[in-house]
Amino acid sequence: MTTLPPLLELRNISYSSPGQSSPLLEGVNFILREGRIGLIGPNGSGKTTLFQIIMGLLKADAGEILLQGKVMEQEKDFRKLRRKLGFLFQDSDDQLFSPTVLEDVAFGPLNLGASPEEAQKISISTLEHLGLKGFEERITHRLSGGEKKLVALATILSMQPKLLLLDEPSNNLDPTTRERLIKILRGLDQAHIIISHDLDFLASTCTQLYAIQDRQLVRCEDKQVHSHEHIHPYGDKPHQHGT
Ligand SMILES: Nc1ncnc2c1ncn2[C@@H]1O[C@H](COP(=O)(O)OP(=O)(O)O)[C@@H](O)[C@H]1O
Ligand SMILES: [Mg+2]
Repeated sequence: MTTLPPLLELRNISYSSPGQSSPLLEGVNFILREGRIGLIGPNGSGKTTLFQIIMGLLKADAGEILLQGKVMEQEKDFRKLRRKLGFLFQDSDDQLFSPTVLEDVAFGPLNLGASPEEAQKISISTLEHLGLKGFEERITHRLSGGEKKLVALATILSMQPKLLLLDEPSNNLDPTTRERLIKILRGLDQAHIIISHDLDFLASTCTQLYAIQDRQLVRCEDKQVHSHEHIHPYGDKPHQHGT
């Protein structure tokens, strides 16, 4: 039986930020075959940097990135990689640049060679899938933070990536939108890596947890999915939760 190469592999990745004497990441190794990975680590530990390195937006000082067994060497390799990986930025304003939602969501498919009609069709169905039917002609920069986050996700999903890299997707979402995002992510077929400080969000959307610790990527073997008490207004009245 032949085994397929991993979807993504990092071999001995090291990186120093400009002007910093000690490396931010050192000898990072990671293999992703499939699945749903959560990534935690303190602020400034290099989580976003790691995503940027994987996408080829920053160049590692040492080490290799392999996509489906092939080493990414030149910019043209990373251009191909970027067609297969969807990167949701920490700040949606960095991701959305077209006047209307439909134009933003159609940009990716058009760039991948879809005809305007195909791109429109894919974009409308992606928006519908994310519960954003009717948002097509909305002015992107006037959307709320949560709406922008979902539209930014739509711009990625419309390209049908094999792997999603989501940088703090639940930040600043109201509880309803957060629950909606959890349902959406749980319903997707693609593998994903989610950076978050929100452990409950990761427990709901991921099956494995990794942490950046001492410049390395380490698997948290002792992850326990658990529930806990919480507080919210009117909690003493009979109520229902989203899930
Ligand atoms: N362009 C840059 N130039 C210099 N330092 C940077 C740059 N981008 C990020 N850094 C530094 O790299 C470190 C890691 O940043 P980042 O990857 O954004 O951390 P995280 O996402 O884990 O919070 C931080 O100390 C940050 O200040
Ligand atoms: Mg970050």
